[in-house]
Amino acid sequence: MTIPEFDETTITDAVLDQVRRAPNPRVRQISEALVRHLHAFIREVEPTEAEWEWGIRFLTETGHLCSETRQEFILLSDTLGVSMLVDALNNRLPGSATQTTVFGPFYVAPPEFPNGEDIKGHLAGRPMYVSGTVKSTDGTPLANAVVDVWHSDDQGFYDLQKLADDPRYAGRGRFRTDEAGKFRFWTVRPSAYPIPNDGPVGKMLEAQGRHPYRPEHIHFMIAAPGHRKLVTHIFADGDEYLDSDVVFGVKRSLVRRYDQHAGGQAPDGSPMKGDWFSLHYDFGLAPQNTEAF
Ligand code: BEZ
Ligand code: FE
Repeated sequence: MTIPEFDETTITDAVLDQVRRAPNPRVRQISEALVRHLHAFIREVEPTEAEWEWGIRFLTETGHLCSETRQEFILLSDTLGVSMLVDALNNRLPGSATQTTVFGPFYVAPPEFPNGEDIKGHLAGRPMYVSGTVKSTDGTPLANAVVDVWHSDDQGFYDLQKLADDPRYAGRGRFRTDEAGKFRFWTVRPSAYPIPNDGPVGKMLEAQGRHPYRPEHIHFMIAAPGHRKLVTHIFADGDEYLDSDVVFGVKRSLVRRYDQHAGGQAPDGSPMKGDWFSLHYDFGLAPQNTEAF
């Protein structure tokens, strides 16, 4: 038996020889790429042993912070641009389809409401009327599409972040489009906000000299039979963080004016007092069998 001995010039090939034995071709491909890129990273940065220990501690803390309501690894993937890269690679869609963006950590399956309902619950903020249409990319209205929405309050907090103060869900709901593919609801205007930055990801952003903010947005997840599920946001035009979203999620086609009004009558006929806002967006869903370009 020859006992092998490895040094910095032979260790990578030795590990690759081992992982190439994986019977599943995809496991083999992923393992080989992981070893090649990880070893190249280490060769490039030449960490000291103390730095490597620090890196392991960072990942350990990231794992320890994960729970039912906090997903620090998703935040890490988001802030390093990996979530948007995975999104881009998986959603090469025609221009007529609404663009996708990050899912984020604040979704839970919401209660269903009839069109026109107010979903603000206990969230504070100024009234906002949101309406939209859901169509296939050929322009056919999609009836009975399921439209899930969620957003923060006017201080930038989601209901999930304040469950200790009030355990009820608020600022989230599920609607179904009518025969013409239309949906509408009332809520309150959200706000730009910092992603949770009291953990390792926050420390990383600080060390990298980055702010933790996302521009103001409302989340939409739309599902219709025979179509690809759409996960996206509609961002508020004019927000100061549109060009520096900490998770790289902004696309120009997803930015719309949140129109401001003073009193008058809302689109559903409600008499209004004081300031209120309205937002309309026409969503395009790609058929399930759409060829990626
Ligand atoms: C969000 O928009 O809810 C979100 C997305 C990525 C990271 C943190 C929050
Ligand atoms: Fe969000």
